Amino acid sequence: MASLDRFRVTGGAHLRGDVSITGAKNSVLKLMAASLLAVGKTTITNVPEIADVEIMSELLTRLGCTVVHSKDSLTIDVPEMLGHRADYDLVRKMRASINVLGPLVARIGSAEVALPGGDAIGSRGLDFHIKGLESLGAKAHIEHGYVIAEAPHGLTGTRIELDFPSVGATENIMTAAVLASGETIIDNAAREPDLVDLGEFLVSMGAQISGLGSPLITITGVKKLKPTSHATIPDRIITGTWAFAAVMTQGDITIHGARAQDLELPLEKLASAGAIVTTTADGVRVRMDSRPQAIDVATLPYPGFPTDLLPMVIALNAIAEGNSLVTENVFESRFMFVNELIRLGAQVSVDGHHASIDGVLELSGAPVEATDIRAGAGLILAALVSEGETTIDGAFHVDRGYPNFAEQLCSLGAKVSRE
Ligand code: UD1
Repeated sequence: MASLDRFRVTGGAHLRGDVSITGAKNSVLKLMAASLLAVGKTTITNVPEIADVEIMSELLTRLGCTVVHSKDSLTIDVPEMLGHRADYDLVRKMRASINVLGPLVARIGSAEVALPGGDAIGSRGLDFHIKGLESLGAKAHIEHGYVIAEAPHGLTGTRIELDFPSVGATENIMTAAVLASGETIIDNAAREPDLVDLGEFLVSMGAQISGLGSPLITITGVKKLKPTSHATIPDRIITGTWAFAAVMTQGDITIHGARAQDLELPLEKLASAGAIVTTTADGVRVRMDSRPQAIDVATLPYPGFPTDLLPMVIALNAIAEGNSLVTENVFESRFMFVNELIRLGAQVSVDGHHASIDGVLELSGAPVEATDIRAGAGLILAALVSEGETTIDGAFHVDRGYPNFAEQLCSLGAKVSRE
């Protein structure tokens, strides 16, 4: 019934007002998975109200945990005896399910995790995850659609060099190595703020980790971890989405509870498009008084420009003054959403991993479809600057990453409904 689940947007409003940022999806799901590393009750606060948190809760429950969700906090009670299998019906809905792999192998010496689904943004291999666990001494292979990993005699620290600073692989290796014997060094590790949050969570459980936020992470294994309490960091991609919304709609949005330091490059790019960006006591304010100038962007692992904001950049350039070139270096299929943007009148041509965009004065509303979370958000921003009405099918994708998005847009003056 996905096609009946849609947003209806009437374009033309200048978004003005205040929004508050909740915890990061790409952090909280990893914290939840890592809670498996310690027997007892772990509490996570600043938990966003998104569908993926419910899916991860269900996954942990099936592994034997008791998960209690109240307001913005989660308590996960992890038993001594854990299940080791994460079934396809849950994993297919959410890529982050793969994050239970490292903790399960480390804690109970075996894991069977279905090959993940998640967004249609590229092939998204697991070879670095599997090679990483093998380097730590696990036996791992793929069979009948499951990653099966075993380490009955425990894991042993070693040096692991990643071919690419994969976020998920760094996370799985780190959450396995914390209970390995001896020292593990991850070379060419991911540096994303969400990964640093996970590392700090593990440290608060008693793990010994240094080098978080750098390409070289060193982990000295410990015998046991203890449960902890931790607040999730604010979502930098939602923050970025509001910043782009302010610029595209020539509005003025104050984003509370945001960490501007996690978004240096995107905010600099918006300033070069003509925005007035100021940091405030608890976040950032983004104001725009004129049509944006086109910006050239190439996505890269952090601290480069985040691939998750690529649809927003293309949407902005679609109505900006001038031509631009946008290059995607992380996921090969991010440009799938461009065809939908073209339905709104955007002038975009894609060649391999480059998109060249010719800005037009205004887009025109049409029915479009979201193919993943970020594409959905990008299309909603495009709809806000389209003449007339746009419907965006596949709203459930957007729900996976943006709590109460339609309500928040309305509170800023947008005309958005959900049907
Ligand atoms: C995470 C984020 C996603 C974000 C991405 C990059 C979550 C749930 N998702 O995804 O929103 O866009 O980081 O910041 O946190 N790769 C391999 N083999 C592997 C692992 C990865 O080839 O074993 C490739 C992928 O196909 C992709 C690239 O490496 O081309 C980056 O992937 P990765 O950093 O692992 O992204 P995710 O952790 O899946």
